[in-house]
Amino acid sequence: MAEPLDPNLTNTTLYKERRKRADADKPPPRSNPLGAIAHVRAPKTKSREAMVDAILAQDNGLIPGLLTKSFYEPFSIEGLELKLEPIQPSIGTIIHGIDLNRDLSNPKVVNFLRTLWLDRKVVVFRNQGHLSQEDLVAFANYFGEVGAPFGEREHVPNSPHDLNQQVKVPNIPDMLVIPSDEIVPNAASGWHADATWQARPPMGSILICREAPPIGGDTCFCDCHGMWEGLPKETKHKVEKLTAIHMGTIGHQMDGVTPVATHPVARTHPETGKTTLYVQQGFVRGFAKEHQISNEEEKELLLAMKFQEGKPEYTCRVRWEVGSLAMWDNRSVLHSASGDFWPHRRLMERLTILDRNVERRTPYYKPSNYTD
Ligand SMILES: [Fe+2]
Repeated sequence: MAEPLDPNLTNTTLYKERRKRADADKPPPRSNPLGAIAHVRAPKTKSREAMVDAILAQDNGLIPGLLTKSFYEPFSIEGLELKLEPIQPSIGTIIHGIDLNRDLSNPKVVNFLRTLWLDRKVVVFRNQGHLSQEDLVAFANYFGEVGAPFGEREHVPNSPHDLNQQVKVPNIPDMLVIPSDEIVPNAASGWHADATWQARPPMGSILICREAPPIGGDTCFCDCHGMWEGLPKETKHKVEKLTAIHMGTIGHQMDGVTPVATHPVARTHPETGKTTLYVQQGFVRGFAKEHQISNEEEKELLLAMKFQEGKPEYTCRVRWEVGSLAMWDNRSVLHSASGDFWPHRRLMERLTILDRNVERRTPYYKPSNYTD
């Protein structure tokens, strides 16, 4: 049996709220993908406890091992011998051979990582479990300004419904801890980019895995440049100049006000110049009223965009190991946790990163001549 979770986590509102359901012996609801998968894995079980036992029994025989061949590019920089392992053709690279505590004092190494990150949109490092929470802050600082848990500090949710906000690290209020165990199923499944309801959403995010399930719980990423490229030509023409309304949830309220921001549908990446589709079903509620788009057309256009979300060709999956760290570019990817691992435990820590260049924080669109 795993050690009990830290009381700092189990005494939080999040944990207590979700424990009520466990105490009532209710399985996770099917309306959440996490619950749906639990019902797939343990059908016809009479109680939550029986469901937990049935699922754990299925995974009981799993042992860790290295079984597959991998392809990587050897790369030397400043005395480091790296192995760059692409996860999928357009997105995601696992960088082997670096210690993030030791090797980033050389600015050339940081520049290299940043360039690769912009190109691949998600970079993953294995075996970084020795980084303390303070070390994570130092790592984030190499790439930008460390933000509050939801980016800029003008809007910091204080809603009693914001359960995630309750899970804080005492000395590092900017860090968000995301726990999940047998009592508390918890995974941000659903495609989104972090806090796009902010006027100047965070540039990037960092996630490190402190505890990993033996199977499941991957984080999936979707290439928004691929999504834009894949939109039908007619849809591109129709939506290219539109803006969309991004609205936070009740849990993101500050002083009772739900945050709302209006952003371009087509977004120019401020560093690569590439066009990305900056619409996701997570926070986008529709197009700005000034466009006077009929409900019917709005529905049709949003559906065409939704159709691009999560296409296998645009996505990669990051499989977590204890000590794996991922850093992604919120301007060019969506992400979604795969809520398929309950009742196994997963414990993650997250930081957001803001662009040091404040001018580049506000999303904009500078038309380029696409050649469709
Ligand atoms: Fe997220």
